[in-house]
Amino acid sequence: MNSETTFISRHSDKETLVRAKFLQDVLKGLSSSPKYLESKYFYDNNGDRIFQQIMRCPEYYPTDCELEILSGQTAEILHLIRERQETFDLVELGAGDALKSSYLLKYLIGQGVSFTYYPIDISSNVIESLTHRLPAEIPGLVVKGLNGEYFNMLEQAAMQSSNPKLVLFLGSNIGNMFPDDALKFCIRLRESLAPGDLLLVGFDLKKDPNTVLAAYNDKQGYTKEFNLNLLTRINRELDGDFDVSAFQHYPTYNPESGACESYLVSSRKQQVHIDGQMINFEATETIHMEISQKYTPAEADQLAKDAGFVPLESYVDSKGWFLDTIWQC
Ligand code: AVJ
Repeated sequence: MNSETTFISRHSDKETLVRAKFLQDVLKGLSSSPKYLESKYFYDNNGDRIFQQIMRCPEYYPTDCELEILSGQTAEILHLIRERQETFDLVELGAGDALKSSYLLKYLIGQGVSFTYYPIDISSNVIESLTHRLPAEIPGLVVKGLNGEYFNMLEQAAMQSSNPKLVLFLGSNIGNMFPDDALKFCIRLRESLAPGDLLLVGFDLKKDPNTVLAAYNDKQGYTKEFNLNLLTRINRELDGDFDVSAFQHYPTYNPESGACESYLVSSRKQQVHIDGQMINFEATETIHMEISQKYTPAEADQLAKDAGFVPLESYVDSKGWFLDTIWQC
C-alpha cells in the first residue's frame, strides 16, 4: 500500500465513523418522544451557505451586534486579556467564517503578538476554507484548523501547544444549548482548560420578544430553509425519504425563560424511512430542531460563577442587544 492509498483508506474510515454517529444521533432523536434533532447537524455545505444568507437578513441582528463589539472595542478587550496573559494561543469553538474573530486576529498581528490560531468547527468545509483563506488575508497569522467536536479538538490543541489559552466562543453558540446543558458544558470546558486560561463568550441578550422572534422567522424564508435542509441532509447522507414539503417550520420565543425554539411540524400522518428503519409521524407531530437561548447579563454572570469561572469584564453593543464577556479559569 503506498502512502496515498493509506491516506484515502484512513479518510474513509473517518467518514464511516462520522456517518455512523450521525445515523445513531438521528435515530435516537426521532425515536424519542417528543422527537428532536441536534442542531449541530444543520451545518453541511448547504447549511453553511444558508446560515450565511440568514446572517445577511435584516431581521437577524446577532452577527451585526457582536461585530460592532469586536470591531469597536477590540483594543479594550485585548488590553484586558494581555494584562492577564502575555502570550497565549487562541482557540475558537465553532469558528464559522471567522469574520468576528478576524478583528481580534488582525489586531494581535498588528501589535506584533505571536500566537497560533486554532479554529475548531464541526464543518470540514469551514475548516478547509479557513486554513487557506486566513493566512492570505492576515499575513503572519499561523492557523491550525481542527475539524471535529469541541472537546476532542480542544484536547488536540492542548497536545499541540502548552501555551495558556484564550478560548473564543462567540456568536451566541452557547445559546444552542439548554441552560442545564450550557452549565454542564461550561464546567467541562473549565475542566479541560488550565488555571488562568481565559474565555471570551458571546451571549444574545433578552430583548423585545418581537425582535427576537423575527430574527428566527425571516421574511425571505432562509431560517425555514435552514431547518428543512437537515431533513434533506438526512435523505442524502442517511438514505432517508423525508417528504420535506410535508413539514412546517414553526419558531417560538418565550420571553420569560429566554428560550427561542424552532420546530418542524408534520402536516399529516406519515412514515419516513432512514437507513432502512421506519419512523412514524402522527399528524401535527413535532420535531424540536433548535434552541437559541437568550440571557440577561446577570444570568450570564451567574452561569460563569456556577461553572467555577471568574467573570472579569463584559462588553455590549450600542443597542444593548448582545454581550461579549471575559471569564477566567
Ligand atoms: C449560529 C447558533 C448563533 O442560534 O442564532 C440562526 C443559529 N439558527 N438562525 C443562532 C441560527 C437560526 C445561530 N447560532
